[in-house]
Amino acid sequence: MCADGNRRTVLTICKKQSITLICSSNSIATMKIKVSTRVVLLIGKYAIKFPVSKRGWMQGCNEGYLWKKYPSNTWLVPILWEWNGIVCQRRVKPLDKNVSRRKLEYTRLQVIKQIPELEVYNCDLHNRENWGTYNNKIVLLDYGISPDVANMYTA
Ligand SMILES: Nc1ncnc2c1ncn2[C@@H]1O[C@H](COP(=O)(O)OP(=O)(O)OP(=O)(O)O)[C@@H](O)[C@H]1O
Ligand SMILES: [Mg+2]
Repeated sequence: MCADGNRRTVLTICKKQSITLICSSNSIATMKIKVSTRVVLLIGKYAIKFPVSKRGWMQGCNEGYLWKKYPSNTWLVPILWEWNGIVCQRRVKPLDKNVSRRKLEYTRLQVIKQIPELEVYNCDLHNRENWGTYNNKIVLLDYGISPDVANMYTA
């Protein structure tokens, strides 16, 4: 909950496994919390992801690993630091609604051409929520997938 003078505003939206808490005020600071396999704190220019399960921890470690292997790859949202599965990324804008499924699929193929580790069967790169916009370019914000993580979705 946040205080903005005399007023407090809290909005809770539940969708599938995700809970979004939007805390807004008249100030420039807006904070969002998203919960899935990780608690994602969206604050200012940063997205900080805290694992809440083994799968979330593995995803955080995988993201850190891929960013170190492909530093400054422009398809990946930049990671500022990763520690023990906790990830701090640049905050990006949600994917534009006008981006078609076809365009996203084309982008996914471009990404796995450069980063073959992301070619994983049953992976969530098909999910729009894992993509965003950064510097006017489509980028992947959730790249914690691996065959082990994908198997945990079906288990
Ligand atoms: N860098 C970011 N900038 C803006 N929003 C982000 C960022 N990273 C994550 N989010 C938001 O948080 C949500 C969950 O993040 P992410 O997909 O990385 O976590 P997850 O635990 O892997 O979730 P899931 O398992 O449901 O895919 C995203 O769908 C997005 O809305
Ligand atoms: Mg995700």
